[in-house]
Amino acid sequence: MTNPPPLAAGTRLDFNGPLSAERAGRLTTVLAAAKPSTVLDLGCGWGHLLLRVLEAVPKARGVGVDIRGHDLERGRADAAARGLSDRVTFVEGPAEEHLGNADLVLNVGAYHALGDVPEALRTLRTLVNPGGRLLFGAEFWERVPTEGELAGMWPGTSVDDCTDLAGLVDRATAAGFRPLRIETATGDEWAEFESGFTAEVEEWLVANPDHPEAEATRAKVDQHRSYWLRGYRDVMGFAFFVLG
Ligand SMILES: C[S@@+](CC[C@H](N)C(=O)[O-])C[C@H]1O[C@@H](n2cnc3c(N)ncnc32)[C@H](O)[C@@H]1O
Repeated sequence: MTNPPPLAAGTRLDFNGPLSAERAGRLTTVLAAAKPSTVLDLGCGWGHLLLRVLEAVPKARGVGVDIRGHDLERGRADAAARGLSDRVTFVEGPAEEHLGNADLVLNVGAYHALGDVPEALRTLRTLVNPGGRLLFGAEFWERVPTEGELAGMWPGTSVDDCTDLAGLVDRATAAGFRPLRIETATGDEWAEFESGFTAEVEEWLVANPDHPEAEATRAKVDQHRSYWLRGYRDVMGFAFFVLG
């Protein structure tokens, strides 16, 4: 019997968020059109978006920063498979210790690496070279959550954790950016992400129902699914802003 895989092992996902291949392709085209020479991805995870941009801009060089070394190992392996190893560096460590300037900065689902949203946007603004771009991805409320929905989400979730979409755009403009593109994840992207997030664990449970760790693993994955289905589904949105 094998041991249970971790939640979000991510082997079924390309991105650690509700981002489809179609949207990633479209955003890559938009970002590549500005012809960045340097790309910095803070909180890059597996670095797939960074690698896509480097493929689309053949002379660009990129740096991906994340605190999770095993995610970066996957990024390095994928870079090697795509012939990009000489143009990308994956750095393990906190984003705050690896800030740098770039023509294109990516920060998707990882503003918390730089504080709260306003703090992150202010810091990111200082990193983007003149004429450059930021791809910023973050959560917002599709509508104000009810008390019951808030109680169904992660412990401690508060209505103040997010703004609505307009408020999130306001935070970007307050930091000195202009919104060149505003997109939001669809319900299908969320469902694809959530299913991929738990896929390895659910398949392991089907194959190993009597494993000594099965009960604890079931409890963990059931709790996560409950946060989604009883809490943030259709309530929390995810925005992708191309900012200039
Ligand atoms: C939701 S994931 C998004 C990953 C990636 N941007 C993507 O869209 O697939 C957030 C990432 O931020 C990383 N992270 C969290 N705190 C960080 C920090 N202080 N410095 C760098 N990365 C951090 C996590 O390890 C994780 O990979």
